[in-house]
Amino acid sequence: MGDELVGHANPGTVKAVAPTAIRVRVPAKINLALCVGHARPDGYHELGTVYHAINLFDELTFAESGSCQTRMRIVGLGQKTLPVDDSNLVIKAVNLLQETFGPQNRGISITVNKKIPIAGGMAGGSADCAATLLGAAKFWNLPASLEDLLELGAKLGSDVPFGLVGGSAIGSQRGEKVAGIQDNGHYHWVVALANRGLSTPSVFKRFDELDEVVGTQIPQQIFTALADGDIQLLAKCLRNDLQPAAISLRPALSEVLNAGVAAGALAGLVSGSGPTCVFLADSEAVAKKVAAELVKHPKVWATEVASGPVAGAQLI
Ligand code: C5P
Repeated sequence: MGDELVGHANPGTVKAVAPTAIRVRVPAKINLALCVGHARPDGYHELGTVYHAINLFDELTFAESGSCQTRMRIVGLGQKTLPVDDSNLVIKAVNLLQETFGPQNRGISITVNKKIPIAGGMAGGSADCAATLLGAAKFWNLPASLEDLLELGAKLGSDVPFGLVGGSAIGSQRGEKVAGIQDNGHYHWVVALANRGLSTPSVFKRFDELDEVVGTQIPQQIFTALADGDIQLLAKCLRNDLQPAAISLRPALSEVLNAGVAAGALAGLVSGSGPTCVFLADSEAVAKKVAAELVKHPKVWATEVASGPVAGAQLI
């Protein structure tokens, strides 16, 4: 396939699609706890994390490409900047499905309608990858179970399996081993976006340089908070070991975190490797108020109000 990948920079709509097309919606993730250990010999870090899917979605459409080739285009965020070649996790997912289940005789055309921030610590690329595993497997009617897709996802990226599972879940090893947890709450979040991303490997590298490893053990209290849907307790338990590294690379993040709490959030933290910051609010009304305040901050590019947990990648 490789040489026929096509990217279109012009915006389009994913609504006007052929009836045979398949659509998948996939959420952004935040980490309610991200407990990071030492670097392993393979360069990855062992971690214990609590993933949480929020209702900020990318939507992917899978349709006939009209040839035996794979085609991909992006509309929305990143339509002019993101690669649509073999380096994109979406194409990697298609290639891995074909390697695993054999070449398919119908080419596939994938449109990614992107709303999840790019390089924002919200696993947008991994979400698109998870959605592609699900959508392309359905498009080709492959004999793939969820377990098969989780295994393939783990090969493609640490956060990809969670994109398939969604909800609230523990991630262990390098994050790719996922198990759902009981969460009886519904939480309102404010998402504060920066106008420039942070590279995940550079944040992990700075984490190593800071040399302040606490360990991969997730504090038990967070499971109690989620099982009870206890927002006040959850606010006290939020933890991100990568936050000092992200702040050290982008000092303005600490101003943004302070501004969110000053505006009425219960707590704020950097999402994953950042630079997106997320804030827990005790109602949707408070979340909207905090978002309206924060967007005035010079270091905040945009804000979104979101809630979670929501399901992982789903056919729609
Ligand atoms: O797995 P993924 O390709 O998404 O990881 C991107 C990068 O993030 C890795 O190359 C590595 O530098 C860093 N990483 C890490 N430990 C993890 C997950 C990611 O060091 N558990």
